[in-house]
Amino acid sequence: MAKMEVKTSLLDDMIGVGDMVLLEPLNEDSFIDNLKKRFDHDEVYTYIGSVVISINPYRSLPIYTPEKVEEYRNRNFYELSPHIFALSDEAYRSLRDQDKDQCILITGESGAGKTEASKLVMSYVAAVCGKGAEVNQVKEQLLQSNPVLEAFGNAKTVRNDNSSRFGKYMDIEFDFKGDPLGGVISNYLLEKSRVVKQPRGERNFHIFYQILSGASEDFLCKLKLERDFSRYNYLGLDSAKVNGVDDAANFRTVRNAMQIVGFMDHETQSIFEVVAAVLKLGNIEFKPESRVNGLDESKIKDKNELKEICELTGIDQSVLERAFSFRTVEAKQEKVSTTLNVAQAYYARDALAKNLYSRLFSWLVTRINESIKAQTKVRKKVMGVLDIYGFEIFEDNSFEQFIINYCNEKLQQIFIELTLKEEQEEYIREGIEWTHIEYFNNAIICDLIENNQTGILAMLDEECLRPGTVTDDTFLEKLNQVCATHQHFESRMSKCSRFLNDTSLPHSCFRIQHYAGKVMYQVEGFVDKNNDLLYRDLSQAMWKASHSLIKALFPEGNPAKINLKRPPTAGSQFKASVATLMKNLQTKNPNYIRCIKPNDKKAAHIFNDALVCHQIRYLGLLENVRVRRAGYAFRQAYEPCLERYKMLCKQTWPHWRGPARAGVEVLFNELEIPPEEFSFGRSKIFIRNPRTLFKLEDLRKQRLEDLATLIEKIYRGWKCRTRFLLMKKSQIVIASWYRRYAQQKKYQKIKSSTIIVQSYIRGWKARKLLRELKHQKRCNEAATIIAAYWHGTQVRREYRKFFRANAGRKIYEFTLQRLMQKYFLEMKNKMPSLSPIDKNWPARPYLFLDSTHKELKRIFHLWRCKKYRDQFTDQQKLIYEEKLEASELFKDKKALYPASVGQPFQGAYLEISKNPKYKKLKDAVDEKIIIAEVVNKINRANGKATSRIFLLTKNNVLLADQKSGNIKSEVPLGDVTKVSMSSQNDGFFAVHLKEGSGAAGKGDFLLSSDHLIEMATKLYRTTLSQTKHKLNIEISDEFLVQFRQDKVCVKFIQGSQKNGNIPTCKRKNNRLLEVAVP
Ligand SMILES: Nc1ncnc2c1ncn2[C@@H]1O[C@H](COP(=O)(O)OP(=O)(O)O)[C@@H](O)[C@H]1O
Ligand SMILES: [Mg+2]
Repeated sequence: MAKMEVKTSLLDDMIGVGDMVLLEPLNEDSFIDNLKKRFDHDEVYTYIGSVVISINPYRSLPIYTPEKVEEYRNRNFYELSPHIFALSDEAYRSLRDQDKDQCILITGESGAGKTEASKLVMSYVAAVCGKGAEVNQVKEQLLQSNPVLEAFGNAKTVRNDNSSRFGKYMDIEFDFKGDPLGGVISNYLLEKSRVVKQPRGERNFHIFYQILSGASEDFLCKLKLERDFSRYNYLGLDSAKVNGVDDAANFRTVRNAMQIVGFMDHETQSIFEVVAAVLKLGNIEFKPESRVNGLDESKIKDKNELKEICELTGIDQSVLERAFSFRTVEAKQEKVSTTLNVAQAYYARDALAKNLYSRLFSWLVTRINESIKAQTKVRKKVMGVLDIYGFEIFEDNSFEQFIINYCNEKLQQIFIELTLKEEQEEYIREGIEWTHIEYFNNAIICDLIENNQTGILAMLDEECLRPGTVTDDTFLEKLNQVCATHQHFESRMSKCSRFLNDTSLPHSCFRIQHYAGKVMYQVEGFVDKNNDLLYRDLSQAMWKASHSLIKALFPEGNPAKINLKRPPTAGSQFKASVATLMKNLQTKNPNYIRCIKPNDKKAAHIFNDALVCHQIRYLGLLENVRVRRAGYAFRQAYEPCLERYKMLCKQTWPHWRGPARAGVEVLFNELEIPPEEFSFGRSKIFIRNPRTLFKLEDLRKQRLEDLATLIEKIYRGWKCRTRFLLMKKSQIVIASWYRRYAQQKKYQKIKSSTIIVQSYIRGWKARKLLRELKHQKRCNEAATIIAAYWHGTQVRREYRKFFRANAGRKIYEFTLQRLMQKYFLEMKNKMPSLSPIDKNWPARPYLFLDSTHKELKRIFHLWRCKKYRDQFTDQQKLIYEEKLEASELFKDKKALYPASVGQPFQGAYLEISKNPKYKKLKDAVDEKIIIAEVVNKINRANGKATSRIFLLTKNNVLLADQKSGNIKSEVPLGDVTKVSMSSQNDGFFAVHLKEGSGAAGKGDFLLSSDHLIEMATKLYRTTLSQTKHKLNIEISDEFLVQFRQDKVCVKFIQGSQKNGNIPTCKRKNNRLLEVAVP
């Protein structure tokens, strides 16, 4: 084999010794010390040969991980540090590969970790055995049977919160490949007394609490249960809740597990109905009632609970009620009914509850077996796992402890048998002489208990069957007689006087010296418990139930199968089942796990020496080591032995070519090991004393150190050498790389210099050429320019005469045209509005257009005036003509004129025709009236003013009295020669008359009017149109008027403002009339 294999061994890195067989010296103290040392280092497993001692760590250690499973898989038992997986692996492999049925026997006291150990074994086997859908389902079912059985069979005790209250043996069946096929579970001795009564601080079976906490309201209602624990007499109150245990969650787990295992829904339902019925039975209470015949009779206190139970189970209420009150005894075809007193009724009730529950449990096991049994008929290999209570030594030990301890005696018995047998077989197999081994054989104790004639169980049965009064005391008496001389039996009353004065032994007790210690049994209750009596009336009542599960649980209730023979007693049943178990175990290869409890507190890290010492004693572990060591303490196959120690001898190191055995022989000779210390077997070397082995180990260690130094030395030398060579090689590589690099550099430098020189020369040459070419090019260009100029001159000289003459004018005209065009186009956009009074006119753009611009403005104004005028009606035209006339006459001549421009000329200010006052006047004037207005006539004599109506018609001027309307004077227009007025701002005017005319008698009129301009204008116009003469209008601040004969001068002077704005007129003398104008 080329591969270098690193063999490890149990002997490597050992804390204390991993195998007690190697303990030196071997005694109780060193044994405990070793365990303690290992326990303190979290090494909870220790071997005695192939037996595993397991100390409960009471905390989860990281040693059960999938990685650990892999580590232990397919490794030899002694290769790694002790572990339960190593034992499981060994068992599984020898089952699979060597076709040997296996059993794993787990013992220890309550709380020592048996159940956990059995689960670890199962989970390891499940992890390493075959895989696949079908196989996985089988595995799952096998594993899930645990939670179901634990719910119904486990309870919290003072020692263990999850104590199994039944013994369990499970056969796991495999096919030839090692794949699991199924399993069979056997149960032993459920502690059914727990159903009706629990010791202080303990609980009833988990399932009761799980249902009440975890079931839905609906489900509880169906089961006629209430959630409150305290409602039920059968549930001890003091520890209804357990720390760290979630009953409700566990209930779900259990239901789920039941489903996986294969329970149908109706089965689950029936199971819980039975559980509910048991719980409710505890609530039935009885009261005494005297009867006529003087006998006491019991009556049910409150029938409600009974009614509900009957509804749940389908039992006729009267039948059950009767069964609680009467007992029928049948003897020799005679039936005798006797009434039950209150105590008997309670006894009957509790017996029924216990029987119902324990039968339900057995039924569950059968039902699970049905589910998990192997489906094929092929030959199976079997691995049995036994998890049964260990030895029990309490203060009060009763029938149960007696039975349990009996079972443990039997297990010890086969342990001794099988260990010795195996040992012997190995010696024979290996051809080594068998030497007798001294050990304590407990067969004598087994005989004390199970002997068919004189055994304690046989005598108990005899007592129970004996007619006449039978009590526990009569039983004890009998024991005292029969067993008095037995070495292991002790009693105060026995004929043997050894214990007469032993006060530690009460009268009502007997003591047995078990192999594991002395146990004192209280005899009280032995007979009853052995009888395990359930009145026939009750079993018949149960059989009559319509609930199919309950009916099936009580087959003996069937009257057709009535059997007068008593059912077998509990003791004999147990004895029989133990016998079967032993027979079963004997056919198998045993593997032992011995569980030890380190303390009573369920606490981690505490190692109570006294407690452990006690367990070591009763488990007989020292015996175990001694048996194991009786011949040879240590044995090992030749190959691993040679492999481990070959370095101790020159011939075998480093390679031994011959057979391993010869190698070992040479090795042992060389080491001068005394020949009595070892023997050569066929395949193994046997070493008598651990001392020799340790000597070998020490030598090996020493040698390994030397070898290590040697290896280190060689390795260092090799390392230095190779390093040097490597460095040398590297140096060459580096040097060559460097040289290459340097040469490269040099070459590159030369190359670049060459290129520079070259480029300079080339540059110089090129520049020279460029200069020449440039010169040439300039010469050519100069020639061309000169030629061009010369040609230009020639041509211009020739053509000058063709353009010069007209060009200026043309350009001027064109420019002018363009300017004009631009001017007009701009004007078009800038035209002012059409209103004649709008003074706006765009600014002149060019000076030379000044006159045009002004002319244009004028034309435009005229045009828009014409436009404006064209809109006029004839009426308006007339008015404007009048106004124009007025303007021609007075503009810039009379100061009153500008005020008149805005006033419209209305003419008829007095409405003569409409006013009735002037009717006479109207009638007198039949011509069209041009002016009708009130004027002031200035008195010629004094200058005073009087109001007169002034009328102008086509032909005449009329003056009338303003009040009467009488015409005062009438002047034809032809007689009016002149009108005079001042240049000032006053309304005075004089109407000059023709001398000699009719109207001129009194002289000229001097009048004053607000509408002087209008009157004068109209007068002028009318006169012109009538007489074709232009009326003379004189405007002067001094004029003459003719008053009768006198010529009077009217003079206008600047007057004071005394009279406001009204001018005043005054006659100064007969030659002068003064008008003061303000
Ligand atoms: N290997 C272990 N690792 C951790 N805790 C353990 C181990 N074995 C037992 N225990 C603890 O001890 C308790 C009692 O173990 P259990 O197997 O039920 O005892 P037994 O069956 O012997 O009465 C368990 O509930 C668990 O808490
Ligand atoms: Mg257990």
